[in-house]
Amino acid sequence: MDHDQLIDLTRRALKLARDKTTDLAPQQHTVDAREYTSLERHDHDKAMLMASPQLVGYVSELPGPGTYCTKTVMGRSVLLTRTGDGSVKAFNNVCLHRQSQIVTGCGTAKRFSCPYHAWTYDNSGRLVGVPGREGFPEVTLKSDGLTELPATEFAGFLWVALDPGTTLDVAAHLGDLAEELDSWGIGRWSPLGEKVLDSPINWKLAVDTFAENYHFATVHRQTFATIARSNCTVFDSYGPHHRLIFPLNAILELDNVPEDQWDPFHNMVVIYALFPNIVLSVTIANGELFRIYPGPYPGRSITVHQNSTPLDLSDESVAAGAQAVFEYAHATVRDEDYRLAEALQANLEAGARDRLVFGRNEPGLQHRHITWDRAIAGHSQAAARL
Ligand code: FES
Ligand SMILES: [Fe+2]
Repeated sequence: MDHDQLIDLTRRALKLARDKTTDLAPQQHTVDAREYTSLERHDHDKAMLMASPQLVGYVSELPGPGTYCTKTVMGRSVLLTRTGDGSVKAFNNVCLHRQSQIVTGCGTAKRFSCPYHAWTYDNSGRLVGVPGREGFPEVTLKSDGLTELPATEFAGFLWVALDPGTTLDVAAHLGDLAEELDSWGIGRWSPLGEKVLDSPINWKLAVDTFAENYHFATVHRQTFATIARSNCTVFDSYGPHHRLIFPLNAILELDNVPEDQWDPFHNMVVIYALFPNIVLSVTIANGELFRIYPGPYPGRSITVHQNSTPLDLSDESVAAGAQAVFEYAHATVRDEDYRLAEALQANLEAGARDRLVFGRNEPGLQHRHITWDRAIAGHSQAAARL
C-alpha cells in the first residue's frame, strides 16, 4: 500500500476514533440460524469453496527450486513443489498404488518415495520408480503420475484449485486488491509454521469472529483491547472481498502530531477478508493468515493459522520472540474467540431462536454473509440450468 493511501486510511480511522464511532452499513441485517447448522447449506458451502481459488500459504514456504510443502485443504492432502525451472506445481498427495499420503511436512527433495511400498515420484509428479515392477504390467513409468491441481504464486501467496478440471484465475479473483496485497510483502516474509484448530463450530462462525471488533472490549478485555479500540472500524469492500482497519488506542495521540510525521503502521491493524474463507491480518511485524475450512458436518471446522515475520530468524532470540508472539495470538483466538463461539454454536443447534442480528456497526460481517449468499444463489441457478 502506498504511503498516501496509508495516511488517508489513518485520517479516516482517527476521525472515527475521535468521534467514538465506526463505519456503518446502511441497515441492520438478519440471518437464519440454520445457515450454521443445516446439512444442505453445509453442502452448498463446501461446493462454494471447491469452486473458488484457494490461498494455501506464503510463497516463502517454497523458497527455491527443489523445495516442497504439504497442505491440508478441505480435508484433502495437497503436495506443492517448486520445480527446477522455479515454477509452482500442486498435486493430490495420494499415491497411485493404494492411496497412501506420499509425503508430509516441508523441505527440499526432488523425489518422493511413498512410505508404504516405495513407489517414487519426481517433483513434477511423474511416477519414476515401482519396486516389484512385474506386479504392475498396466502401470507406465514417466507417463503415469500424481493428479495435478492448477497452482500458481500470486500477490505473494500460493494458490491452488482443488478441482483438477477447473482453471485458476487468481488475478480475476482478487481484482483491484491484488496489487495492495502484494505490496505488503507478507507472503515473502519468513514463515513461522502452522497451528491447527479443530473446533466444534461452523466454519462461518469461525470467520465471523474476525469480521468485527465490536467484541474487543468484552471478549478481549485483557488482551487485544488493551492495545486496540473496540467498535471502531474503517470498512471498504472490493467485490467479494473486504478490508477492515482496526485502529490502535494510540491513534488518538496523532491529534498532536503533524501528518508528515505520522507512522501509520504504529496506529492500526489491517484485516483482509478474502472470499470465501481466508482472513489476513497485517501489522508492522506479523502477517497472519487464517485458512478456515468446513469440517465433516456443519458444527465442525478446521482453522489453519499461519504467521510470517519480516524479522531475521537466524538470530535465536529473535526467532523465539517471533514464536512467542505467534503463540500469544493463537491462544487468544483459541481461548477467547473460539471458546465463546463453541457455546454459541451449541445455542444455534439447540434451536431456541431462529435468527441472528448483524448491526450497522458490523459491516464486515454483513458483507461476508451477503457475498456468500449471492455466490450460493448463483451456483444454485447455474446448477438448475444444467
Ligand atoms: S500406497 Fe504408495 S507405494 Fe503402495
Ligand atoms: Fe476476536
